[in-house]
Order: sequence, then C-alpha cells, then structure tokens
Amino acid sequence: MTLQRLGIIGAGGIAKVALSTLARDQAAPLALTSILVPPAFASQATALLDSLGDGLAKSRVVRTDLAAFLDDKPQVVAECASHTAVQEFGPPILDAGCDLIVVSIGSLSDDALFNKLERAAKNGKSRLVLVSGAIGGIDALVAARLSGLESVVYTGRKPPNAWRGTPAEKLVDLAGLKEPVTFFEGTARAAAQEYPFNANVAATLGLAGIGFEATRVRLVADPGVSRNVHEFAVRSGCGDFSIKLEGRPSPDNPKTSLMAGYSVARELLNRVGTVVI
Ligand SMILES: NC(=O)c1ccc[n+]([C@@H]2O[C@H](COP(=O)([O-])OP(=O)(O)OC[C@H]3O[C@@H](n4cnc5c(N)ncnc54)[C@H](O)[C@@H]3O)[C@@H](O)[C@H]2O)c1
Repeated sequence: MTLQRLGIIGAGGIAKVALSTLARDQAAPLALTSILVPPAFASQATALLDSLGDGLAKSRVVRTDLAAFLDDKPQVVAECASHTAVQEFGPPILDAGCDLIVVSIGSLSDDALFNKLERAAKNGKSRLVLVSGAIGGIDALVAARLSGLESVVYTGRKPPNAWRGTPAEKLVDLAGLKEPVTFFEGTARAAAQEYPFNANVAATLGLAGIGFEATRVRLVADPGVSRNVHEFAVRSGCGDFSIKLEGRPSPDNPKTSLMAGYSVARELLNRVGTVVI
C-alpha cells in the first residue's frame, strides 16, 4: 500500500529538506502529515507545514504528545530529530505497528536501544528502516557483507572548526592547525560513543557492514577542507571499493549535511511512488 498518512518527528534542517522535496516530487498530495515535536518547537513545525501547504498533504497537524500523534494513525514515521527522540519515541511507535525511518543512527551504537527497537518492531509487525544519511554506497556495502567482508575503514575529515565542542578540542590546537591531524583512531563503537554528534556515519557503516567493533574509524581535523568529507574503503569477497563524498552543509543547520535530508526524501518518495530506486 502506498503511503498516505505520514508522521515526522522533528521540524529542523533534515525534516525541511525531506518534506519540501516530497511536496515537490510526489505525484499527488498525501492525505495527512503529522509532525511530533516538543512544545518549544511547535511554532517551528507549524511554520514548516504552512510553508508547504496543500502540495504536501490535504491535512497537516502538529502534535506535542505521542498519544495524539499515534491517534493520527501514521503508516510510516520518519525520525528527523535527535538521539533522545529515537530512545523516547522509537519503541512505542514500532510497537504500534508503524514503520520507523531513523536518521539519528548514531543512537543505535547503544546495543540495548537497538535490541529494544528490534523487539518492538517484531511485536508490532513493523519495520525499522535505516537511511543512508550523509554517506552513500550502503547498498554496495551490504552486498559486500553478504559476500564476506575483510575490512571496512572509514575516514571522517572536517574543517578544524567543525570539531569544536567535541573531545578533539582537548587533543588538538584546532585554531592553530596548519596540517591535517588524525586525532582519533579506533572502532566505530568508540567513535560513536566519544563523538556522538558526529557518530551517524560511523554507526551506519558499522550496522551495514562488519559491525561496530571491526569497523575501523579515523577522524581528522583538516585545515585544507571546507566541507565534511566522508571516505570509506571496503575489501570483500565480491570486490574492493572505496567511496568519497564531500557533503555540502544544510543552510538551515550548518552542522548537518544536506545529503541526509535528501536520503530521507528518497525513502519517502519510494513509499509514495510505484517504482522503488
Ligand atoms: N544519518 C546521518 O548521516 C545524519 C546526518 C546528519 C544529521 N543526522 C541526525 O539527524 C538528526 C536531525 O538533524 P537536523 O539537522 O534536522 O537537526 P536540527 O537541529 O536542525 O533539527 C532537529 C529538530 O528536531 C526537533 N526536536 C528536538 N528535540 C526533539 C525531541 N526530543 N523530540 C522530538 N523532536 C525534537 C526540533 O524540531 C528540532 O528543530 C540529528 O539527530 C542528527 O544527528 C544524521
């Protein structure tokens, strides 16, 4: 059944790109779009829905509590908010029989949360869907896993300022850097836990590929780049490949890559269209 009733958690940079792209490219408006946000973000959510109007959905509502949101009977919910939102709302949404698309994938480096979501999905006969977010090539990585993976090595490279507010600040003189510095080398699990706000790509690669412990991660502060650069190299039974992606920042949230919002849009368009690609 194609998507008619859509739930969204969050109304920030990713939700805006995902919903505006859906409104632009879908063949016909949805019956309903319901957004769940904390009360402090209700006016932001209302403004987003008002800006998209009937082209997005015939009925558009903002909810600030989960019960009212579930009463709207969304068929699919896309989380575009935060790790906390996945923890708080993920299990009851899946339990209610509603598919959950997750973009805050760093949250899933917590095994207990991941297991809880899986149990809720089994119980609710629903699905937990992980989008590729800021990185590409997840289809190839999963195919490579099925053939047998030997190694997955990820390098996350950002301008020094982008690492402010992280433990990198104590390890590197970010303001004075003249050369690239690798300030972290370790597992995807450690990267996701020590750098939670930069954890989404490492966690996505860990989940799609060889696991959180075996995926090797390098984090680099590089004064020579102006964008976030994600690279990963794979050796596997079906072939070796590497992917490099230079993300442009979202104009609404410079810490977020635009690609992540479009990856949610892709998932939603696949659910309203007749061809899935
Ligand atoms: N998978 C990836 O590669 C990838 C890439 C970039 C960002 N992300 C993740 O996507 C998420 C959203 O990013 P963004 O750039 O849209 O952030 P943002 O700060 O622009 O927007 C987040 C929005 O979520 C809502 N919100 C905040 N706290 C909430 C809560 N507890 N419950 C429900 N809603 C809440 C608010 O509307 C807020 O504006 C973040 O968790 C970020 O880490 C993932």
